[in-house]
Amino acid sequence: MKYSIAVVAMLALAVHPASAQNKGTAAKKVAKPPAAAPVEEKDAATLEFEKFRAMMEETNPAELFEAQGEEFWKNKRGHNNVSLAESCDLGLGVGVVKGAYVQMPRYFADAGKVMDVERRIVWCMINKQGFNEADLMKRPFASDSHTPEATSLVTYVAGQSRDMKFAVPLKDPHVKDVYEIGKEVVNYRAGPYDFSCNTCHGTDGKRIRMQNLPNISTHRGATSAVMGWPGYRMTGGVMLTQQWRMGDCFRQQRFPQPKYLSDTVTSLLTYMTANANGATYKGPGIKR
Ligand code: HEC
Repeated sequence: MKYSIAVVAMLALAVHPASAQNKGTAAKKVAKPPAAAPVEEKDAATLEFEKFRAMMEETNPAELFEAQGEEFWKNKRGHNNVSLAESCDLGLGVGVVKGAYVQMPRYFADAGKVMDVERRIVWCMINKQGFNEADLMKRPFASDSHTPEATSLVTYVAGQSRDMKFAVPLKDPHVKDVYEIGKEVVNYRAGPYDFSCNTCHGTDGKRIRMQNLPNISTHRGATSAVMGWPGYRMTGGVMLTQQWRMGDCFRQQRFPQPKYLSDTVTSLLTYMTANANGATYKGPGIKR
């Protein structure tokens, strides 16, 4: 249990709005580990969250982003003035969104890569619509004043798989290879605390204060880990994708953050989502 104090300190960082807003302030905060907050404060926060969630269950703010994403999907845009609906193949044929999300990550021969949904959408924006790659890489995650188009698109596409079962095509050897890499990444220990993902996520029933840390190597844990993403995050009030979640967990691990849309992140998403295969996806959600 020698890690528990450091872990608690990290959690305090994890729930700070700055971490969700990608303002580059995280590095400064890391330098000065905050004292562990009193447990009562956490309980109050939990109650507050439950209250908000109950209020918002009827009208999940994620739906606004789904609607926005649908427009981005259907309208002719970019340098080439084409729509994604008429040019982008998410694995089930050009323009098909129904059920595409729960069958990703998958292998795309045209890109020669296994891709998760966000990576594929951005690939289509660049290669089909003619958006500038550097522009799309600049501010990939939402802040309080800005939601990237790719985030709304991911939310729309994910919503089109609501109530469908995860079915990552693990029989495809490309996908299986990337899955195996993901498994290794999850177990790889390094960094100043010698953490791996599994230090926090590798046992059943583990919690850091009030947060459940899903055991991503089991079907049950992986299912809970992929459920509700992309998610509207109460902390900071922003819509965030799994790409963001992975980057932020690397930060908690005190690893260098992977590049946006990196192979590493795809491998993690392949591992977790395939472990959840068979579970029914409930659609974009609300996250604390
Ligand atoms: C230091 C502990 C720690 C490490 C190491 C860590 N995480 Fe996390 N992870 C957390 C915490 C804490 C949360 C919840 C954060 C929150 O809700 O604000 C979380 C959340 C998540 C979630 C979302 C779960 C959900 O229910 O929505 C996923 C998925 C995840 N982590 C995967 C990973 C992966 C993959 C790695 C390795 C790259 C990793 N984590 C490394 C602490 C950690």
